Amino acid sequence: MRQKIVAGNWKMNGSKESIVSLVSGLLKMKDSNSEVVIAPSFPYLSQVCDLVDASSLVLAAQNISHEVKGAYTGEVSASMLGDFGVKYVLLGHSERRSIYGETDAIVASKVKTALEFRLTPMLCIGETLEERQSNQTLAVCERQLQAVIALVGIESFEKMVVAYEPVWAIGTGLSASAEQAQEVHESIRAFLAKSSESVSQKVQILYGGSVKASTSSALFQMPDVDGALVGGASLDAEEFIAIIKAAG
Ligand code: G3H
Repeated sequence: MRQKIVAGNWKMNGSKESIVSLVSGLLKMKDSNSEVVIAPSFPYLSQVCDLVDASSLVLAAQNISHEVKGAYTGEVSASMLGDFGVKYVLLGHSERRSIYGETDAIVASKVKTALEFRLTPMLCIGETLEERQSNQTLAVCERQLQAVIALVGIESFEKMVVAYEPVWAIGTGLSASAEQAQEVHESIRAFLAKSSESVSQKVQILYGGSVKASTSSALFQMPDVDGALVGGASLDAEEFIAIIKAAG
């Protein structure tokens, strides 16, 4: 039985003041069977780390450098995040791939660095609308996964989470249906099973892309959907708590 994860990616949003209010709203949540994760921007990790108890809210970062340390102006290393109790790091998010030119190879090297520093990568994969319309969905997901498998090995996926985020669903209000998500999640698991059946059964596969409270119950009932990576809706404590409740 895989534990569900509900993760909130705050992206480049928030201020000192708004974060106090958002976190205090989230702390009103009753115990959940799911692991609840929040990913603030780098400057607020320390603030959030002081506000939360790791048993109720788990910290994630939104990115890391693939380098370990040194003259890399503007970058943040995996080891620095360890100082703030960060457990997860989002890697390969479509905004990083499309806006900042992160290739499959760069994403794979960041995964390797994260694992070396005991961070758990949340590896984001997913197709664009054009790719879906030309029946490339699985080919794209498999290519993005294979680049990571080739560098770190399939066994490393036991220490990782995969997030399937169709690019056409991100920030558009157009979520994949529960059935569409299940179809891809099942195929991702089947692809991983070709390298290791046991790893494929253990790895948690989250869905991301316009998840809202109203659509989350149907998603969470799907056998291969092990949680959600939530963007916009995670900035509203009530809405995010409703999604967490839907996960059980
Ligand atoms: O990381 C989260 C995803 O990009 C989803 O964002 O829920 O605003 O569509 P969204």
